[in-house]
Amino acid sequence: MKAIFLVLTLSLFSVVHAQQKSIIPKPVKAEWLKGNFKLSPTTVLVASSADEKKSADFFNGYLQTFYGLALKIEKNKPASNYILFSASKPSSLSDEDERYVLNVSEQAIQVTGNAPEGVFRGVQTLIQLLPVEKLATITIPAVAVEDFPRFKYRGMMLDCGRHFFSTDFVKKYIDFIALHKMNTFHWHLTEDQGWRIEIKKYPRLTEIGGCRNGTIIGHHPGTGNDNEKYCGYYTQEEIKEIVKYAKDRFINIIPEIEMPGHASAAIAAYPQLSCFPNENTPIAKGVQWSGDSTGKQVQQSWGVYPDVFCPSDYTFNFLEDVLDEVMQLFPSKYIHIGGDECPKEYWKRSAFCQNLIKEKGLKNEEGLQSYFIHRIEKYLNSKGRNIIGWDEILEGGIAPNATIMSWRGEQGGIEAAHQDHDVVMTPGGYLYLDHAQSKKEDSLTIGGYLPVETVYSYNPIPAELPADKQKYILGAQANVWTEYMSNPAKVEYMIFPRMSAVSEVLWSRLEDKNFDDFLRRLQTQYKRYDLWKVKYNLKGTHKGE
Ligand code: ACM
Repeated sequence: MKAIFLVLTLSLFSVVHAQQKSIIPKPVKAEWLKGNFKLSPTTVLVASSADEKKSADFFNGYLQTFYGLALKIEKNKPASNYILFSASKPSSLSDEDERYVLNVSEQAIQVTGNAPEGVFRGVQTLIQLLPVEKLATITIPAVAVEDFPRFKYRGMMLDCGRHFFSTDFVKKYIDFIALHKMNTFHWHLTEDQGWRIEIKKYPRLTEIGGCRNGTIIGHHPGTGNDNEKYCGYYTQEEIKEIVKYAKDRFINIIPEIEMPGHASAAIAAYPQLSCFPNENTPIAKGVQWSGDSTGKQVQQSWGVYPDVFCPSDYTFNFLEDVLDEVMQLFPSKYIHIGGDECPKEYWKRSAFCQNLIKEKGLKNEEGLQSYFIHRIEKYLNSKGRNIIGWDEILEGGIAPNATIMSWRGEQGGIEAAHQDHDVVMTPGGYLYLDHAQSKKEDSLTIGGYLPVETVYSYNPIPAELPADKQKYILGAQANVWTEYMSNPAKVEYMIFPRMSAVSEVLWSRLEDKNFDDFLRRLQTQYKRYDLWKVKYNLKGTHKGE
C-alpha cells in the first residue's frame, strides 16, 4: 500500500514537473537541477530600485490574482527563502537589453539582468515555473536559465477602431503581451468606423467621430444593421494611465493615427478634411444603413472607403495639432501614421489635388501620397520622433527615416530593407490573427486560414534577403483587426493559442524551434489559459485541420 502511494505521489510529482518544464517561448538555455524552491507566505521578494520593484510587483500581482498569495517586498535580502530581482543598471529607452539569468535553488531564486527590461522578461519565465493547478504548496523546480531574445521588436496590434475595448481589457491585453515576453503594443486608435482618442483641440473627433449609428450584421456588406448607436473613446487621462501601465511592464505603446485613408470618422467630425466637404459619405454597396445617410457620417460597415484626407493646409494643420497631443501622451520613439489602403479616386477628381501635383512636380496620385507621408514625417522628425507606416508608404518613394510594416506579404519589407530602411514584418499569411484558425471555423471571422502550425513556421528573416540587409528586420508583430471581434472573449479566442506561437517565433533561436516540442509545451499553456480564465481555441493546430 505504501509502495503504491509512493509510486502515485512520484508520478504526480513528475507530471507536475513536466508541466513546469514547459516554457514558451523556449529559452536559449535551461539546465534543470535537482530539488525545488518552496514558495510560502514568508518568502520575501527583494527589489532595491524602483525599476526592479516593477518586476517584483508584477510577480506579486500574478501570485495574488492566481494563487491568492501576497508576499512582502523588501530592499534587503534575508539569508534564504527570497526571490531577488536585480538589474545592474537603470532602464534606458535607447538600450533595450533584455537578457536575463534565472537561478532557482532550494534556498533562493534570483532573476538578474543587465537592465530591468531583462529582469522583467525573466519574471515571465519564473511565472511559467509555477504550477498550473492550485496546490497546497507551491514548488518551483531548480533550474539555471540563460536567455535573450532573437528579435528586438516583438509586437501585438489591437484595432480599437472597428470595435472599442475598455481600458480594463486594454490593460489585460498589455498583460498578455508581457506574459509572452513581447515588448510592443501597437494601438490602432483611428478608423473609418470610429475615432477613439480624445484630442482636446478637436472635441468633435470623439463627440461625432467616436460614434456610429449602427453596425452591419454578419459578413460585409451584411445581412442587416443592428441599428444601435455604438460609441467609445479613451480620454487623455485614461491613455496616460495605460501608457504608465505598459511602462511598468517595459512595454512600449506605438499609437497609430491613420492617414490619409481610413479617415471617415475624422471627416464626419470635420468635413473640411475631405476634398469634397459637401458630398455625402459614400456607403458601400449592399450595406443597410442606420439613421441619417446625408452629409459626412461614420462608417457602419467594414472595408476601404474613397473619402480620404485632402492634402490641404487645413488637413496638415489639423494633423500636426493632433500629433502634438499624441506625442504628449505617448513617449514612443515611433508614431504609426498608417498609410495603407488609400484609394486615389477623390484626389483624381479634385482640382485642388491635381494643381498640387503640378505645383510640387509630382508624378501622379501615388506621388501625392508620398508627399503627404514625407510632410508628416518631416514634422514628426522635427519633434524627435520617427514614423512607422504600412508598406504602401513605399509607393511613390519612401520617406527618408521611415520604418516599414510589411503586411501585404513580405515583399514590402524586403524592398525597404534593400533601401536600408528598418522593417517590422507582419505578413497577413502568417501573422493576421483575425484570420480563421481552422477549416471548420466555428465563429464569424474575416476569412483566410491561419492554423497554429503556419504561425509557428514563420521566420521573420526572408530567405532571399542578403546577409548585410538582415539587420534591418527589427522583428515582427501579430495584428488583431476587430471587424469580427466585438468583445474581449472573442479577441482571446482568436489570439490563443496563436499568440504563444508568435512569442516563440520572435524570442527563440531559429535552431531551437521544433513544432512537436512546442505542441508538447502548449499542453501546459492550455492549463495556464484555464488558470487565467481566458478563452482559447483547441481546433486548427495542424495545417489542414
Ligand atoms: C492592413 O491590414 N490594412 C494594414
